[in-house]
Amino acid sequence: MKDKGADLVWFDGQYVKWEEAKVPIMIHALHYGTAVFEGIRAYSSDDNLYIFRLKEHLERLHKSASVYSFTTKFSADELCNATVELIRKNSIKESCYIRPLTFVGLHGIDLNVSKHSPTHTTIIIFPFAKYFKGDGISVCVSSWRRIDDESIPPMAKASGNYLNSVLATQECRRNGYDESILLDKNGCVSEASGENIFIVRNGKLHTPQLSDSILEGITRNTTIEIAEEMGYEVIERPISRTELYLAEEIFLTGTAAEIIAITKIDGHTVGNGKEGTVTRTIREYYENIVVGKTEKFMGWLTPTW
Ligand SMILES: Cc1ncc(COP(=O)(O)O)c(C=O)c1O
Repeated sequence: MKDKGADLVWFDGQYVKWEEAKVPIMIHALHYGTAVFEGIRAYSSDDNLYIFRLKEHLERLHKSASVYSFTTKFSADELCNATVELIRKNSIKESCYIRPLTFVGLHGIDLNVSKHSPTHTTIIIFPFAKYFKGDGISVCVSSWRRIDDESIPPMAKASGNYLNSVLATQECRRNGYDESILLDKNGCVSEASGENIFIVRNGKLHTPQLSDSILEGITRNTTIEIAEEMGYEVIERPISRTELYLAEEIFLTGTAAEIIAITKIDGHTVGNGKEGTVTRTIREYYENIVVGKTEKFMGWLTPTW
């Protein structure tokens, strides 16, 4: 998706044509990055189109806005209903990506954004396939450090945060890698430019803790829950860069990337250079859950039809 997605966009409670969903040039968010957003996937299956963990995403949208003291005028439940209705009005039956966005509107050049500042909320849908091609990707550790809670809180999914991700992505692509891993200000592993990271060591899963400058990913939480259910121990702790080189397996998690193995890091081959057994087992379980094949986790799915 570069220029256009589904015909209709939800915009402040109205269903409007994509071409007509426009904003004035002085929108605060455009100048200062004062916007929060979500990325959600809907999966087409034999019997329905299921949205994965819709409510959790829309609750996170609210939490992200609250960090910056602005508000989303629509409740998470209202936005859930709007998302389902938007899918129906667009007659979408195929897997797609859903992008809710709340942004500060006309507020001059005043940086004192508050709960009284005007905000707008929109939901956009577009077709979306795999984010990374193939079964494994090659990554590098970025020379850029991850934004930090002392300056720009990574736990809020705010638009401005992604300038940090843009720099890291530009650097890795320039050097021929698929994705970049950022270290936090202490030199510990934080996350990728748009995904959380897990490593496997001695058969156990390890992932950076929330205080290591990460977004609390919904796929990360899902992975922890299903991995534990499958009997794996999952440890949240600081991870050093060298552990990436020593790991038996490494994988990334995120709504867009789903669960994807890292097969090379900084030129070091991870394991045998292919997706490892632990990663494959968890990925396959996840892939069954999102299309409604696992009864136990049907509560994570919102049917649309
Ligand atoms: C910086 C960053 N970390 C992690 C994630 C993974 O989060 P989630 O699993 O909620 O999509 C994302 C994607 O939203 C992200 O942009």
